Amino acid sequence: MIRLQVTPAAEEKIVPAAQYGHFAEHLGRCIYDGIWAEDDSTKRSPEGYRTDVLEALQKLQIPVLRWPGGCFADAYHWREGIGAPESRPVRVNTVWGWPLENNRFGTHEFFRLCELLGCDAYLAANMGSGTVQEMADWVEYVTSDYDTTLTCERRANGREHSWKLPYLGIGNEVWGGGGFMSPDHYADLYRNWQNFAKPYNQTPLMKIACGASGEDYNWTERMMARVEPWMMQGLSVHYYVVPSGNWDAKGDAVRFTDEEYKETIRKALVMEELLTKHSEIMDKYDPKKQVALIVDEWGSWYDVTPGTNGAYLYQQNTMRDAVLAACTLHIFHRHTDRVKMANLAQTVNVLQALILTEGDRMLCTPTYHVFDLFRPHKDGVLLDIAGEIPVAEGLPAVSVIATKKDGEICISLCNPALQETELTLDVGAVAGEVLSARILAGDCHAHNTFDAPDAVCPVEYSGVTMENGLLHMTLPACAVAVVALR
Ligand code: AHR
Repeated sequence: MIRLQVTPAAEEKIVPAAQYGHFAEHLGRCIYDGIWAEDDSTKRSPEGYRTDVLEALQKLQIPVLRWPGGCFADAYHWREGIGAPESRPVRVNTVWGWPLENNRFGTHEFFRLCELLGCDAYLAANMGSGTVQEMADWVEYVTSDYDTTLTCERRANGREHSWKLPYLGIGNEVWGGGGFMSPDHYADLYRNWQNFAKPYNQTPLMKIACGASGEDYNWTERMMARVEPWMMQGLSVHYYVVPSGNWDAKGDAVRFTDEEYKETIRKALVMEELLTKHSEIMDKYDPKKQVALIVDEWGSWYDVTPGTNGAYLYQQNTMRDAVLAACTLHIFHRHTDRVKMANLAQTVNVLQALILTEGDRMLCTPTYHVFDLFRPHKDGVLLDIAGEIPVAEGLPAVSVIATKKDGEICISLCNPALQETELTLDVGAVAGEVLSARILAGDCHAHNTFDAPDAVCPVEYSGVTMENGLLHMTLPACAVAVVALR
């Protein structure tokens, strides 16, 4: 039996809401057919968005959305996505499978989407095939209220006031498809580029430099050594979980063995080590923690669903992904000192998606439900959790996070193992009664389909009892639960 104690923390740490951020790229059916509706769709809002997807995302209250890539960002020229839709140039998306890109979804459509979702905008500037001036102009077009030519152009295109731009990424995966650069070369370029990313309005702009791929600690070391903290408010890291570790045969999203399940979760838990080691390097150069670590791409990456376009990265999403998401969000919370934003890849129809669509049908994935269940953690004050958690085959028997906000305690629990876990939480120091308990559970292969979109969704968790400040529960195998207390 596991026994843990939940107490107020000695030092106040608040979970940044932006750790629950998302990422939408012009890739496969994420934007077109996912967020933006085809002209003949019955789900098309008068402005062009997919109403069902929009409603599901609005419910999630997502804090921030990164756009337009990813790799696509390095081929994207923002001027092609403004003005009368029918006059916008038609291109080929040479980054992701060579479909036509008609630029119907551009800057105005993105910022309007952020308004409809009530979220912050995170733009990724094109360093690969763009210029410093192109980036500077984009920032001006978005943020200026001066009577400049670019501001007048934006007004003529229908937007009177500037938008808020809190986040700007400069270069994406520049060690790979973004330019195959060395860290020193990129660091020097970054110093120049960031200097011309000048917001014209009062919204403080966080400039985010391209960081490491996974465990490339040398990249972080070189960037921190060569770029002063005042030039770089964030340094990113990307980490994808590929179960087999082989990019040519990554593993099936739905059909996997117990061993593959465990290996997937073990690989997800590597995030803990990555964040610890990148943070240690950052601490050497930036002990005041002025530079945030931004995990602006994370999630599972499997073989595409058979019969779908290999470049569109469409994959199913099971309870395995729910556990992966829950454990990863918990890791972010434990690294709140440094990790100020994270962006799941990706929002709709791509990789570890929140939402899948097919024609006019849509479903919310188990991953969506984890983000929904964990909503109370956003901006919550972290509580301490003490006690021994046994680990078997590299998997902890339970992962727990507790936060307090507006007088309520939210405890989220994840059992990543394939057998049930019994535990007792001593919550007497922080709460006296259970308000509600919800659980997302099922076989690790369980997933939603367009015919059964609610096969996996949270239900009331009746297995929770509270007695003398002790919360007892049995967590089924492969489950994610949230208990609200007061
Ligand atoms: O999310 C898919 C791709 O993964 C992104 O475009 C790229 O940045 C990363 O390699």
